[in-house]
Amino acid sequence: MGKKTFYITTPIYYMSNKLHIGNAYCTVVTDSMARYKKLRGYDVKFLTGTDDHGQKVERMAQKAGKTPQDFVDGLAELSKNLWDVMNCEYDIFMRTTQPFHIKACQKLFRTLYEKGDIYKAEYEGLYCIECETFFRPANVPDKLCLDCNRGLDTVREESYFFRQSKYADALLRHIEQNPDFIRPEFRKNEMVSFLKSGLEDIAVTRTTIKWGIPVDFDPKHVIYVWFDALPNYATALGLFGEDDTEYKKYWPADVHMVGKDILRFHTILWPAMLLALGEPLPKSIYGTGFLLSDGAKMSKSKGNVIDPIELTQKYGVDAVRYFLMREIALGQDGNCTELALVNRINADLANDLGNLLSRTVGMIDKYFAGEVPETQSRTSFDDSLTETCKSSAAKAAEAMDQLDFTEALTEIWAMIRRANKYVDETEPWVLHRNNEQGALARVLYMLAETLRHASILVSPVMPQASAEIFRQLGIYNDKLKSWDSLEFGKLPAKVNIEKGGTLFPRIDVKAALGGAEKENEPVPSLPQITIDDFAKLDLRVGIIKECEKASDKLLKSQIDIGGQTRQILSGIAEWYKPEDMVGKRVVVVTNLKPIKLRGFMSEGMILASGEGTGGSPVRLVTVEGDPPAGTGVR
Ligand code: ME8
Ligand code: MG
Repeated sequence: MGKKTFYITTPIYYMSNKLHIGNAYCTVVTDSMARYKKLRGYDVKFLTGTDDHGQKVERMAQKAGKTPQDFVDGLAELSKNLWDVMNCEYDIFMRTTQPFHIKACQKLFRTLYEKGDIYKAEYEGLYCIECETFFRPANVPDKLCLDCNRGLDTVREESYFFRQSKYADALLRHIEQNPDFIRPEFRKNEMVSFLKSGLEDIAVTRTTIKWGIPVDFDPKHVIYVWFDALPNYATALGLFGEDDTEYKKYWPADVHMVGKDILRFHTILWPAMLLALGEPLPKSIYGTGFLLSDGAKMSKSKGNVIDPIELTQKYGVDAVRYFLMREIALGQDGNCTELALVNRINADLANDLGNLLSRTVGMIDKYFAGEVPETQSRTSFDDSLTETCKSSAAKAAEAMDQLDFTEALTEIWAMIRRANKYVDETEPWVLHRNNEQGALARVLYMLAETLRHASILVSPVMPQASAEIFRQLGIYNDKLKSWDSLEFGKLPAKVNIEKGGTLFPRIDVKAALGGAEKENEPVPSLPQITIDDFAKLDLRVGIIKECEKASDKLLKSQIDIGGQTRQILSGIAEWYKPEDMVGKRVVVVTNLKPIKLRGFMSEGMILASGEGTGGSPVRLVTVEGDPPAGTGVR
């Protein structure tokens, strides 16, 4: 029997600009998962690539004074280089300008046309070039993109339409029957309500742009960029191509990793296309959150981006990979700052992991001239460390199976910290002084064995550091690096080390950040109050059930505050879309006197940070975990 397959993909990135750390994040997550699955014995296929077409690319090429093809070729090379630097080991680098993909897309288009699922009609609507998305005029009264808030272009032309509406019910059923189809869970509800609000057919060709794949039987029409991009996941394996062996072997994809902004294309349009073609749907689509810079989404067009190449040159690839995987819980937004990165490096990598390795190897070198003898005698602290290793490995595996690397790394670090504590408990320097060679050998063996465990477990996220730990521990046998060897005591009793350099040097915060991070300035404050003043506020956890726009600035939310629903208006429409509000756990001031705003009663207030002035966004205060609505806050 062949190995079980695992097919995982990143989005194909628009070649409109150089990629930034937010794009790199998605690929690092995918790479870590691919490496983990390989470690677990799967036959893994990892696809990444470039989205070469679209109006945005065409426009950027024009600005650069290049032909679109030259322009995207240059950027595609830079992307490949980035993945090399970030140590992302993809199997296929897919480009939508590759002739096989162009042919396959044309064939796909023709197939759907012949089936009657694509038809010709007149299109009138609005288009966002930035997001490459069509909108109905009725849905965008102020002609601003619902996703990025930019001005929309009016489009009136003959178009081919994809009969997406026909598949809404089948899709809803599929989502219901396959709980893992859309992840994380809270995103699923957004997609379901979008589907339930009524799915319309979608224009899938343009006659006014040139840069794209022409419809072969009607070449004045160019295929809409998303309709050309989504099939890449299947054409890359040979669907509608010359040889579909790989498609047969690896499809359906196990996971499409995508950003939350493009989850809708992946959970609605793409599955509808597959349903129309009679092909199986991907098993799971995971929507990741955004990397923020000062609270705002980092993006190529905003220019507030961090260059991943510069960052890795300064701090090392594994440090950056670790930071991304540990700091940002998958599915959630997370701030990405150099200060947070440096803090992680110093605390987790230099102090915990690096220190454990250098202590262990240093002591083996000093006390036993680099070779731990086989004769060992147990110490009373051994069982507890063994237990931690066992349970940490099991929990880390469970978390990684769910793509929860933040949790997995937390578990692995519990083990590393436990081992550092074991050093303090056993006091090897005292054992040495008292000439207890047997116990001393045991302690060093235990530490080496814990490090071997850690090295296996962190290898999906930090392949280089893992290799260096094995090297310093003198472990060359691949069996001892394998997942199956995660059993305490598998390391042979005689350990030979190779002393090496510091795994993760400590970073001087001031020197690294050049004083750019502000010292803590005293915050101007209000007069003191007593606890009794504070107690006058009735603060409760509220769960937002419904939300809609009440005006340009105001959102009107229906909030469950435990046993009753409150209508609350908040001046946050500039920063939050109604659909993003639903499901959030916010903090509500429930005993604020009701007032009327824009003709609506507002019965309370929700807490948020920021004034929303000077370009700094307003951010809601949300509650971690899932306390019930109405829980008191103090
Ligand atoms: O959307 N943090 O390409 P793209 C995290 N070509 N992720 C971010 C991010 C940030 N600050 N900024 C962008 C496209 N991303 C299409 C995909 S797939 C068939 C076609 C993520 O280059 C974003 O969420 O605009 C998306 O998943 C990916 O980068 C590519 O974005
Ligand atoms: Mg984008």
